[in-house]
Amino acid sequence: MDQARLLPLGPSANALSRKREGHQHHTPIQPREAIAAVDQFFHGDFEIAYDKGLSSLPLTMKTRVFSGMQPSGNLHIGNYLGALKNWVRIQNDYECIFCIVDLHAITLYQDPAELRARIREMAALYLAAGIDPQQCSIMVQSAVAAHAELAWMLTCVTPVGWLERMTQYKAKAAKQESVGDGILQYPVLMAADILLYQAGIVPVGEDQAQHLELTRDIAQRFNSVYGDTFVVPGTSLPSVGARIMGLDDPTQKMSKSAEGTNHAVALLDPPDRIRKTIMRATTDSQPAVDLNNAGPGVLNLLAIYQAFGGASDEEMKARFIGMRYGELKKQVAEMVIAHLEPFQQRFRQITAEPGYLAGVLRAGAERVAPIANRTVQVVKERMGLYT
Ligand code: TYM
Repeated sequence: MDQARLLPLGPSANALSRKREGHQHHTPIQPREAIAAVDQFFHGDFEIAYDKGLSSLPLTMKTRVFSGMQPSGNLHIGNYLGALKNWVRIQNDYECIFCIVDLHAITLYQDPAELRARIREMAALYLAAGIDPQQCSIMVQSAVAAHAELAWMLTCVTPVGWLERMTQYKAKAAKQESVGDGILQYPVLMAADILLYQAGIVPVGEDQAQHLELTRDIAQRFNSVYGDTFVVPGTSLPSVGARIMGLDDPTQKMSKSAEGTNHAVALLDPPDRIRKTIMRATTDSQPAVDLNNAGPGVLNLLAIYQAFGGASDEEMKARFIGMRYGELKKQVAEMVIAHLEPFQQRFRQITAEPGYLAGVLRAGAERVAPIANRTVQVVKERMGLYT
């Protein structure tokens, strides 16, 4: 992994998280400094990076952030802690675009009526988590045709070997009898999402880090063949919660598509269900928390508690070392419920307001489409396509 481009979002790159996540982070940078730190990734061509021509924003506008989630399956606490929670935290320091990536979702079959409903649900979840639609653009990928258009142009500069090496491709392809081309092309569309807006920072969970490396490779290749066109984006991972594991099997990443009722806590699960899932979480053969010998299930529960509550390593140690697993699970469950109950209440209010979500999504797409169209125009010119 290209460490130089990892910009942790958390307040501290702490020992607990390093142990759990198995890789190192840089010393965290405060949002204001982060802008400067990220600027080093920018190409000379600020014209394109900031599309000043189209925007009325001043020259000193904020670095752009782009991220997205697939509206497939139920969003879970891994999605929240790995991505959504951090989007909320940084939304005032950057110019943020948060996307609902429906074109990515259809790389595997989705029931059309269900997909339509999930797109709306996901918009409501973003809002319930605290994304402010006045500050950020919330938009649906397929509402801006430039995503698919740029994806094709980038496909043409991407060696198939790069795509075949992607871990997620290999895992998904292994599960299918017949592998759809969309599964292979998936990270090129993701690169298009990001490069279209000249985003400087992409806050995601750890499972997307490899796709971000590929995005940088594609951007650099395009820039070297056709001349500087794209900002090469930095990846931003939270220092705690970048990889939440399945509660039933802590050797597997918590996933929307995994089967089994005890695998994940969904963001809309009622408190009773949350309590049951966490109380049944797999731990290890020890009776109580011993950080030197803790298995992945116990470290995962501690990560969930720490990521929700924001406790320091010292506070975590003081609270949990020596605690019996039954009590640990109870405390984790109560922490999760305390955060998700108000979240779910906001979700219900948002979805009860007729026309509100549609308005937010329309406004988001209208705000970002000129940026995306401008990039496509430049790419067409650079490649010699008909303009
Ligand atoms: P998706 O929909 O699988 O996941 C959405 C976000 O949640 C993070 N995440 C996790 N974080 C911690 N622990 C977990 N167990 C966990 N599972 C998921 C993901 O890292 C992600 O940040 N390809 C992307 C969507 C996408 C995208 C983009 C992201 C499409 N275009 C452009 C960023 C920029 C995906 O499938 O995420």
